[in-house]
Amino acid sequence: MKRIVVLGSTGSIGRQTLEVVQRLPHRFEVVGLGAYRDAQSLLEQAQEWGVRHLGLIVPPENGILSEYRLYRGVEGLCELVSRPEVDIVVVALGGVVALQPTLHALRAGKMVALSTKEVLVAGGKVVMDTARQHRATLLPIDSEHSGAFQAIQGEQTHQIARLVLTASGGPFRTRPLDTFHTIQVEEALQHPNWNMGAKITVDSATMMNKGLEVIEAQWLFNLDLSQVEVLIHPQSIVHALVEYDDGSVIAQLSLPDMRLPIQYALVYPERLNTGLPRLRLEQVGALTFETPDFQRYPCLRLAYESARVGGTMPTVLNAVNELAVRLFLERRIGFTHIAELVEAVMERHEPTEPTLEAVLETDRWARQTALQTLGGSQPIIS
Ligand SMILES: NC(=O)c1ccc[n+]([C@@H]2O[C@H](COP(=O)([O-])OP(=O)(O)OC[C@H]3O[C@@H](n4cnc5c(N)ncnc54)[C@H](OP(=O)(O)O)[C@@H]3O)[C@@H](O)[C@H]2O)c1
Repeated sequence: MKRIVVLGSTGSIGRQTLEVVQRLPHRFEVVGLGAYRDAQSLLEQAQEWGVRHLGLIVPPENGILSEYRLYRGVEGLCELVSRPEVDIVVVALGGVVALQPTLHALRAGKMVALSTKEVLVAGGKVVMDTARQHRATLLPIDSEHSGAFQAIQGEQTHQIARLVLTASGGPFRTRPLDTFHTIQVEEALQHPNWNMGAKITVDSATMMNKGLEVIEAQWLFNLDLSQVEVLIHPQSIVHALVEYDDGSVIAQLSLPDMRLPIQYALVYPERLNTGLPRLRLEQVGALTFETPDFQRYPCLRLAYESARVGGTMPTVLNAVNELAVRLFLERRIGFTHIAELVEAVMERHEPTEPTLEAVLETDRWARQTALQTLGGSQPIIS
């Protein structure tokens, strides 16, 4: 019986993690749940799962959780994941705020199943160094990285020539470029294949999501930037392809459903029946692939650029993107301003060695600089 803490339990991945665990009651016990500020949903989950230990980054001011042991703020989540009885920590919070809890889990030797890609984008070096130092296991939940991880099992990883991550292309794959400035929030939230949280759905529309995943893949699989490529694959059936030195390509395919990669991380290296619908290629018909266009997806270009520069530059990319997506969802900036703002702040950044302190400081600086940039010129639209 493995004891699990789920950070981000009130979100899309968190809830799907609980669904996976519910199907495997003899293997897992949920001993802790954490979220950002939704105390009511957390309370309902605690009652349903009989969990006593709860964490919230922004704790409620009323006494709604007074009967529980409540872990407050980022420090609280760090304490929650480090509790001695915990075996596995699922990290599925919606942003870089998950960095410190992830590091604490790794330092305490917990197995970390990581969904929050922002953690590796902003602090990849610190995270991977910490995992190595503490001999802690870090497994990906992101579907492309799970696919790649599955495609390297039993292989010589130094003989990987190339990793291809696929992207659906999002809702604006064929939209005329000269109409991008009119894109509304509702349109950006219409993902063609996946049902996900709002932030990652907007990231998929700008394709920043794939850019973040390129950086995530570099850290997870220790690859050169030149080895990680992106192909648009609108059907979202092939999640990742690994090409080896002999030219052979091993790909992972499945219907787009995050419960499969979540379960794979939790029961690795086993493969248990998920009860999910199976892929029937004859029903899918054609699988198509195309090269992404940087003009259509400037965020993907910026992500590659930030990775090329390295140091704390990807931290800036991530921080400004988190802020810009929130402002877009609040209808305070337009869709095309997301990339513009990220680029403007990246241009002002002098990257340094990405120590934990530097990453935290850079994250603060980047958000502040982005807000100053917006205050100084446009593009706030309301
Ligand atoms: N959804 C997917 O299919 C999918 C696939 C691959 C990777 N991921 C990654 O998994 C992570 C979670 O995605 P999701 O779709 O599950 O998100 P989501 O549905 O929006 O859930 C976000 C979770 O994080 C919390 N949260 C809210 N505001 C936050 C903030 N400012 N910073 C950090 N956490 C915040 C929420 O807590 P409250 O409810 O208390 O606000 C909730 O528990 C993201 O990093 C995403 O890129 C998601």
